[in-house]
Amino acid sequence: MTHDFSTRSIHSGRYADSSAVPIFQAINAPLHDEKVEYVSAVGGVGGPTTEALETLVSDLEGANWSVAAASGMGAIANTLFALLQAGDRVVAHRCIYSYASRLLDGDLTQKWGVTVEWVDMRDMAALEKALEKPTKLIYFDPISNPAMHLLDTAEITKRGKQAGAIVVTDNTLLSPYLFKPLDVGVDIVIHSATKYLAGHGDALAGVASGRDSELGEKLAQMRTFLGGFLAPMNAFLVMRGIRTLPFRMDRHCDNTLSVLAWLKTQPQVTSVRYAGETPHAAASGLPAFGGMLAFTVQDGIDLKQFRAELKMCRPWGSLGDIETLVTLPAASELRDIPPNYVRMAVGLEAPQDIIADLQQAFEACA
Ligand SMILES: Cc1ncc(COP(=O)(O)O)c(C=O)c1O
Repeated sequence: MTHDFSTRSIHSGRYADSSAVPIFQAINAPLHDEKVEYVSAVGGVGGPTTEALETLVSDLEGANWSVAAASGMGAIANTLFALLQAGDRVVAHRCIYSYASRLLDGDLTQKWGVTVEWVDMRDMAALEKALEKPTKLIYFDPISNPAMHLLDTAEITKRGKQAGAIVVTDNTLLSPYLFKPLDVGVDIVIHSATKYLAGHGDALAGVASGRDSELGEKLAQMRTFLGGFLAPMNAFLVMRGIRTLPFRMDRHCDNTLSVLAWLKTQPQVTSVRYAGETPHAAASGLPAFGGMLAFTVQDGIDLKQFRAELKMCRPWGSLGDIETLVTLPAASELRDIPPNYVRMAVGLEAPQDIIADLQQAFEACA
């Protein structure tokens, strides 16, 4: 009998008959078939604590394998370096996580001989055109951070596979609780586990998961070469976070809807962006759209002052944490971002307290 997602998030990835997976710091241990392996460089495995996390994430994603990494960016780099070589061409959505775009645009293009074409994947005709040339890999985030585009992952994947490309997506903003990209044919799903999976702002971690074992072996080998293993303590913290992922995600989603409804009534707010209100939302079949939103304000409101006036919401750059985080996009993140733009990662506080904090900050800026 297959249990519900919330049950599996609690019971999967256990160690023996114990309520928590021990933090195995040992770097030498008889890990597999009684063979003594060196946990990092030679063995190519992360050790029992990390392996328990990989088992848990594979279960939740419907994957056959997962490769944990030292950060979300580590998982992205492992994937791209494992799968690409000089002469390969990548088609990527024009708004993806900024450091992923910098890796693609920067080192991979300038030092490693990869070509990247940036496409607005909300436009299927543009994607089709880009896929006319041989394409090794397509890369996108189902919801773009911070532009808040919601993409049609199933349709993009279908077209990518028809073109013979490996399809890679960064599903950090939705988490497997809201969306499982492998179920619509994506080859590799990546998470910054630092965000919703860990959920408490206390562990950097990343994970990539898939079904094709050949791809999994390539990623695991690249992790060994690059050395970006996930530390056992952080694997433990991510697992601890995942145990409550469904409950936290429900609250993130509900709070986001409350904040969104309030923002729409505010005269200072000139527009809102939320994945659940984008053109593909109704057809997406997603049960909810996560904990991120963005809004623009009237000219004349000093957003740096607004951010400084916040008393409870934090001006921190991450997302998926228990606290509400309010950020202004960095210069590297400005594709499809209008002026006067604020990004919010809505936290788990009482919604009226989040709203009251925003309100007093607006009043202070009036
Ligand atoms: C969508 C997305 N992917 C990946 C990352 C990178 O994750 P990490 O900070 O764990 O390296 C981030 C970080 O903000 C992100 O927002």
